[in-house]
Amino acid sequence: MDIPVFKRHDPPVVLAPMAGISDSVFRRICIEHGCDFTYTEMVSAKGLFYGGSKTKELLRVSETERPCAVQLFGSEPDIISDMIKRIADESDGGIAMIDINMGCPMPKITGNGEGSALMRNIPRAAAVMEAAVKASRLPVSCKFRKGWDEKSVNAVEFAKAMEDSGAAVIGVHGRTREQLYHGAADWQIIAEVVASVSIPVLGNGDVFSGQAAVEMLKTTGCAGVMVARGAEGNPFIFDEIHAALEGRGYTPPTDYERMSEAIRHAEGFLNERDPRLFPELRKHMSWYTKGMRGALDFRRDVNVARSPAQMLELLYRFRDSLR
Ligand SMILES: Cc1cc2nc3c(=O)[nH]c(=O)nc-3n(C[C@H](O)[C@H](O)[C@H](O)COP(=O)(O)O)c2cc1C
Repeated sequence: MDIPVFKRHDPPVVLAPMAGISDSVFRRICIEHGCDFTYTEMVSAKGLFYGGSKTKELLRVSETERPCAVQLFGSEPDIISDMIKRIADESDGGIAMIDINMGCPMPKITGNGEGSALMRNIPRAAAVMEAAVKASRLPVSCKFRKGWDEKSVNAVEFAKAMEDSGAAVIGVHGRTREQLYHGAADWQIIAEVVASVSIPVLGNGDVFSGQAAVEMLKTTGCAGVMVARGAEGNPFIFDEIHAALEGRGYTPPTDYERMSEAIRHAEGFLNERDPRLFPELRKHMSWYTKGMRGALDFRRDVNVARSPAQMLELLYRFRDSLR
């Protein structure tokens, strides 16, 4: 099967799915910085089934942010399979792959047996994957963790079950559900998964620099690198990683250039999404300005900005102060 995640560069460097962060605007910006593949924020299969309008918006994938996978979460094979058929019918060809979330640690997800709870129920996870593969004309992948907790590390067994159930690609985050995002990601477990399956594995966890991406590929033998928090306020990380992989020098952007990108991000968000959601931009702006002179005052002001216009004015003013 044609696996679009590997089309642009080999090894691919991909933007991980991140709820509340990897929206269409941010995905496009990352693609412009050399990201090879993106994922939507996680979308509830059940939410889609019951026709939520927010859920539908999450599925929109425009020309400029492709290739992009849709990430679904759910634990009911029938619903997953129906929704995959519906996505395929309604998609204008913009969706490259279907990914199933089997790693989300949030209690409101795991409490329904979804996300990382599937790691405690391999037969159910396998049934979900089999149903998805059967329903989909696109490749199906899944993303999961090292295990539920340190006492039940089962990423290798889980990976084999997903391969046997027809997954075309798997993404492995080297932390347990219990760890959430704390502690160091265990790259050794990613290496063990790589050694135990023959489908491509995307390694995930703690890639915050070009050097880290090179090391992850070397240590684990993974087929590609998946970056989440390293891209927050830093879409430049994809340029940096590709430079490191190709052994090229890399000049990081100046603070002024970073702020210009932050402004482009904010303007894209306000033009293409609902401007009333502008408070969602605050976290991004705080990440873009990390470590910059005057950032604390800027953040304080941005956090109380009462309109999109006021937020943009603060952004322009702060950028000008960096000249
Ligand atoms: C704010 C936030 C939202 C996330 N949302 C999702 C999601 O929707 N689906 C998913 O599979 N993982 C999600 N993750 C997990 C990341 O994709 C990734 O596995 C994790 O952050 C480890 O990678 P990192 O060390 O590069 O950040 C999220 C992580 C963060 C920090």
